[in-house]
Amino acid sequence: MATSVSVTTDQAYQQCLAPDCGATFDVGEVLTACPRCGSLLDVAYDWDRIGPPESLRWFEQKWARRNEPLCRSGVWRFYELLPFAPPEKIVTIGEGQTPLHVTDGVGRYIGLHAGKLLLQYEGMNPSGSFKDNGMTAAFTHARTIGARRAACASTGNTSASLALYCCASRLMQAVIFIGSGKISYGKLSQALDYGALTIQIAGDFDDAMQRVREVSEQLGIYLVNSVNPFRLEGQKTIMYRVLESLGWDVPDWIVVPGGNLGNSSAFGKAFHELHELGLIDRVPRLAVINAAGANTLHQLYNKEQIRWNDGRPDSAGVARYYAQLDSAASKADTIASAIEINRPVNLTKCLRALHWCDGVVREATDQQILDAKAQVGLSGFGCEPASAASVAGAKLLREEGVIAPSDRVVCILTGHQLKDPTATVAYHTTDQDEFNRVLGKRGVSRAAFANRAVKVDNDLDEIVRAIQLNS
Ligand code: F0G
Repeated sequence: MATSVSVTTDQAYQQCLAPDCGATFDVGEVLTACPRCGSLLDVAYDWDRIGPPESLRWFEQKWARRNEPLCRSGVWRFYELLPFAPPEKIVTIGEGQTPLHVTDGVGRYIGLHAGKLLLQYEGMNPSGSFKDNGMTAAFTHARTIGARRAACASTGNTSASLALYCCASRLMQAVIFIGSGKISYGKLSQALDYGALTIQIAGDFDDAMQRVREVSEQLGIYLVNSVNPFRLEGQKTIMYRVLESLGWDVPDWIVVPGGNLGNSSAFGKAFHELHELGLIDRVPRLAVINAAGANTLHQLYNKEQIRWNDGRPDSAGVARYYAQLDSAASKADTIASAIEINRPVNLTKCLRALHWCDGVVREATDQQILDAKAQVGLSGFGCEPASAASVAGAKLLREEGVIAPSDRVVCILTGHQLKDPTATVAYHTTDQDEFNRVLGKRGVSRAAFANRAVKVDNDLDEIVRAIQLNS
C-alpha cells in the first residue's frame, strides 16, 4: 500500500448491491437505483489501483494543513477513503468540525461506568445536523455532472442542508418537498431563509419522498435524498472522526437513530471497508433505534426476523408489512419528527450494515426519547428529539444486558438542540395545556427531568426571594 495517495475518478464506480445483479455504472451517471433490477446502488472503489493509506494515522498529517479547505473539512480530510470526484470539484463549507465528548452524566443515566459513554455532536455542523456530511458529497457529485437544480424530500434537516449548500455555493437552486405540518419551525426557517423553492405537499414524509422521486425524474432535477449513493459516502466520515477522536481505537458500540436509514447504512459501509482494507482489526456493534411511532425497521427486524440474508432479504415479507400499513392507513407519528418515517428507503442497505456489524434494533417511546433528551441537555450542547433516540436506545440495551456497563458506547447526536424548540419548551413548561397540546397526544405523561421556569411578580423582593429559594 502507498503512503501517499493520488486518485483519478476512473477508480470509482457505482455498483448494484444485489448479488444476483451486481451491475456496475460509471460515477458520471446520475442514478438513485439500479436501472436493471431496481436495487440500491453503492459507490465502490478499485482499492488496488488507488492504494489507500497503510494506517489511519496517515490522516494525522492533514491536521497541520488546516488552512487548506479540504484538510479543514471533517469530511474531505478523509478524501482517500471516498475518492469519487476530482478534488477541484469539491464543494465544502467547513462541515464535519464536530466533537466527541465523554459525558458521564448521560453515561450514569444509561448505566455505564465512568468514561464509557461518548456523544458525537453532529449538531455542530454548519446547518445544525449530520446531513452536511452527506450533502457536501452529493453536492460535489451534482457539480461534477453539471446539475443546475437539486431536490429532496425532507423531515427538515436534509432540506436545511441542501438549501445551505445551494445558497452558500450559488451553484444550484434548491427544490425541497416537505409534508404539511410535519416540519419543525427551526428547520423550515432555515430552508426559507436560505432561499429554497419550498413545495409543501398535503401529506407526510413518505408521500413527499415518493413525489420528489417522480418529479426529479420528470424534470431532470438532481436528487440528494439518501437513495443517492454519493451522499452516504460523506456520511461514512462521521465514523472516521469517531475513530480519530478515540486515537483510532474502535469502540464497542455505535448507537444511532434510524429514520430513512442512511446513516446506519453509511456507518456499516465505513467499518466494512476499513476492515477489508486492514485499517481496523475489528468492527464495533451497531444499534439502530427507531421511534416507537415510526418503527418499521424494528417490526421487520425483530418481529418478522427479516435479515440481509446474503443480499436476498425476504422482499415478499417487507411488501406484506407495507401492505398492512396501507390497509390500516397507518401513518408514522412521533415527537421525533426527523425520524417520522414508515418507509425507510435504505432498508436493504441497513440490513447489510446490521449484518456486517452484528447489529441490533430497538424502538424507543416518545416518553423515553424526551427523558433521554433532557439528560443530554443537562450534560451540555443538547440535541433535537430524534437524536436522543440513540441515548434512549442505549439505556434500553443496557437494561437488557445487551450492552455491558464496561462497554465503550458512542451515541450519535444527529441534530442541534435549537432545531425543534417546541418539543423542548413543551417538556419543561409549567403550562399543562401546552404540555398536553404538544406531548400529551403522543402518550407523554410526565416530564421527569423538567427544568421549570419560576414565575414571579415584577417585584425586586419577590425576584430575590425566588432566586434564594431555588438556588
Ligand atoms: N436524526 C435527525 C436529526 C435527522 O434529521 C434524521 C433524518 C435522522 C436522525 C435519521 O437519519 O434517515 O439516516 O436514518 N432526517 C431526514 C431529513 C429524513 O429529511 O432530514 P437516517
